Amino acid sequence: MLSPLAGWTDLPFRECVKRFGADLTVSEMVSANALAHNPKRSRKLYEKSPLETPYSVQLAASNAAVLAEAVRILNDEEWIDIIDLNAGCPAPKVVRGGGGSALLKSPALLGTLIETIKKTSSKRQTSVKIRLGFSENNGVELAKVCESAGADFVAVHGRTRAGGFESPVDYNAIGEIKTALKIPVIANGDIDSYELAQTVFAATNADGVMIGRGAMGSPWIFEQLTRNIAAPTNELKRAVVLEHFDAMRAFHGDFAVPLFRKHLHRYSKGLAGATQFRNRINHEESAAVIRELISLVFEGGRDEEAA
Ligand SMILES: Cc1cc2nc3c(=O)[nH]c(=O)nc-3n(C[C@H](O)[C@H](O)[C@H](O)COP(=O)(O)O)c2cc1C
Repeated sequence: MLSPLAGWTDLPFRECVKRFGADLTVSEMVSANALAHNPKRSRKLYEKSPLETPYSVQLAASNAAVLAEAVRILNDEEWIDIIDLNAGCPAPKVVRGGGGSALLKSPALLGTLIETIKKTSSKRQTSVKIRLGFSENNGVELAKVCESAGADFVAVHGRTRAGGFESPVDYNAIGEIKTALKIPVIANGDIDSYELAQTVFAATNADGVMIGRGAMGSPWIFEQLTRNIAAPTNELKRAVVLEHFDAMRAFHGDFAVPLFRKHLHRYSKGLAGATQFRNRINHEESAAVIRELISLVFEGGRDEEAA
């Protein structure tokens, strides 16, 4: 599965990972509040590519009535298969509003919100993405709340909120959750290679793995993970990056250039000339010039690390 990544996993990027064999893609986090109050403005965040079946939309919420309204709006979009609840986002703004990982401190509210989706949604499945806890690991208790409330599966980022994005991922704790639940459990956190994915499957007995940062700048990771093959050649990467950029322009119009910069920083990692490339694209507004620069940097051929 591709992780939901705010600011990254928009339609063009999800389309890209789908081509490399990701089984399930999830929208960026959509605020239930924003969706309920201005449905048109939020739509761009969760529009689906024809390649994305099945497709999941993630909602962040802290209020059951607002969440129900957001779910009713999504019910009209018959191409959505799953509604996912965000119970892991550590961002202070989201936590202050009582959503994301704040729900890990309120198991009763977490359960109520899942029940709300379950009884309001017309979709095939309801899922939840949690962390192991807010400050301490109480992942088993939290995951059981999700299951009892009717979640069809749960994805677990193997850190507490306090662990941020850098503390070691506790795969054993994900394994304990898997043992305690009957519904499928997806393991998440730091997985960026075939070997690590195999280790995580062995340690957790999870039903799937979810890849976030490992896919940024490497949408081909899904093919590597499923088929244990090497990363593509620079020539193929160049074609993928150009196609991704063209899809961004078609989807985001003039915003594509600034939005694509962070992707290009990731894509160029390790390439000869990456530093100059980044300096150029940081100030370049012309899509045609950016296309040329992409072609040139991938033509450089050698990886800096390998050189
Ligand atoms: C830039 C960024 C944006 C993220 N946005 C979301 C989000 O919208 N919803 C969510 O549930 N998790 C979000 N996460 C957390 C990831 O989905 C994932 O759980 C976390 O990065 C650990 O997995 P990884 O090590 O494979 O990246 C985000 C993480 C990053 C780095």
